[in-house]
Amino acid sequence: LHTVWLDVDPGHDDALALTLAGHSSRLHLLGVSTVAGNQTVEKVTTNCLSVLEAAGLADTAVVKGQGKPLMRSAPLLCPEIHGSSGLDLRIGSLPSPTRQALPGKAVNVMFERISAHHAARGQRVSLVCTGVLTNAALLLLLYPEMADSLQQIVLMGGCMGVGNTHPVAEFNIQCDPEAAKVVFESGVKVVMVPLEVTHTALATDDIIADICPHAPFGRLVKDIILYFAETYRTVFNFQAPPLHDPCAVAYVARPDIFQVQHMRVDVETSSSLTAGQTVCDVWGQSPLPPNVHVAKVMDVASFWAMMKESIQTASQQ
Ligand code: BDR
Ligand code: CA
Repeated sequence: LHTVWLDVDPGHDDALALTLAGHSSRLHLLGVSTVAGNQTVEKVTTNCLSVLEAAGLADTAVVKGQGKPLMRSAPLLCPEIHGSSGLDLRIGSLPSPTRQALPGKAVNVMFERISAHHAARGQRVSLVCTGVLTNAALLLLLYPEMADSLQQIVLMGGCMGVGNTHPVAEFNIQCDPEAAKVVFESGVKVVMVPLEVTHTALATDDIIADICPHAPFGRLVKDIILYFAETYRTVFNFQAPPLHDPCAVAYVARPDIFQVQHMRVDVETSSSLTAGQTVCDVWGQSPLPPNVHVAKVMDVASFWAMMKESIQTASQQ
């Protein structure tokens, strides 16, 4: 089993990332931290606790992380896609959580639990980030020794070409480009799962019918995806919504279903025109060494098979 710490901002697709990380037969979910992004950190933390409870993962440790980017004054937030709660639904509502997040700051709890796991089991942990990279950057800045206990940082974010909330920037990087720069230049193995890949994980009606069993959790997943489908249709004219975030989790479970290229990726932080752009050196023109493994292709059928398995397991809890 690969051990994963998941850093999220739920968020519709983050909810599916939580499900996959918590219920993949190949993964052990060590804990979850939250970060402002799709909504405020308070709202996404509540959503995170709710989703975990609904998915039969109420024992999973949750800790609240940063509410603001490293150096920019306010988080951007994304209500046009995820609604005012950060996880609005089409039909039902999320259960109110019956517990609270752990006390303390996310970076401290992450450091303690990830290093304790490494020390006790001799196994390094994959940090999977499906939100803004503020917690990850702060963790590496405060605790540089954390690098020894991390096998890799796998993130959903960035793009090789066209962005989503900006012409050439993807939301998670655009929100906190300085944090992304810290992570990309940290020396830890970084795997970036960009929009080019996540836009192939389209939850069509056929996929929804296939992966969502009729048990309560399956119904909730369907509701989550239908809301996401609606906003993606309205905002981006997508015929089916891309489930971005579970793609990053899938990489840890099944790296064999991805084609990846090791290349130089620099994050633009200073330009007012393109801050948040991930400048991907596909042709090796940069004088700087490669620093990021960029996923370019994912076997989508295998991805959906994994999603289906995890949703079914959650539905049986
Ligand atoms: C990313 O932005 C967020 O809105 C999603 O949850 C995903 O992590 C896609 O650009
Ligand atoms: Ca997210």
